Amino acid sequence: MKNTNRTFTMIKPDAMRNGHMGSILTHIEKAGFKILAMKLTKLSPNQAKEFYNIHKERPFFNDLIDYITSGPIVAAILEKENAVEEFRNLIGNTNPKEAQEGTIRKIYAKSIDANAIHGSDSDENAEIESNFHFSKDDIL
Ligand code: GTP
Ligand code: MG
Repeated sequence: MKNTNRTFTMIKPDAMRNGHMGSILTHIEKAGFKILAMKLTKLSPNQAKEFYNIHKERPFFNDLIDYITSGPIVAAILEKENAVEEFRNLIGNTNPKEAQEGTIRKIYAKSIDANAIHGSDSDENAEIESNFHFSKDDIL
C-alpha cells in the first residue's frame, strides 16, 4: 500500500486529566506534523470495543475499554512525510518506562495501561482509525 503521509492519534484520558493536552499538541506541532482534523470527544463503551477490536482476546481488554472511556480524548489526523513511523518514534514505547528520553510517553505517561497517547501502527490502520472518527469533509 502506498505511503499516505498521514497518521491518526488520540490524546488519551490520563493526559487530558493531568492537563497535558496543550503541551502534547505543542510537542506534535514542533515535530513538524500538520493537523488536518481534530476533535474533543469521548468514546462510548461500544465505540471503544470497536476501536480496540484487535485486542479483544488480550487479558487486559476490559481494563483497556474502562480506561479509554474514562474521560474525554482528543482525536486528530496528522500529516507529515512518513507519518506513521515518524509519529511512533515521537510517542515512544508502549510502556513509558521503556520509552526513550524526550518521547511523549516518556514525558507525559506513567504506566503501560495509561500511556497518554495513541499512534496508528500502519498506513492501513491510520485510515481505518481516521474514518472511525472523521468524515471526508472534516479533513482540511
Ligand atoms: P496504541 O498507540 O494505544 O495502540 O499503543 P501501542 O500500539 O503502542 O500498543 P498496542 O496497540 O499493542 O496496545 C494498545 C494499548 O493497550 C496500549 O496503548 C496499552 O495502553 C494497552 N496495553 C498493551 N499492552 C498491555 C499490557 O501488557 N498490559 C496492559 N495493562 N495494557 C496494555
Ligand atoms: Mg496499537
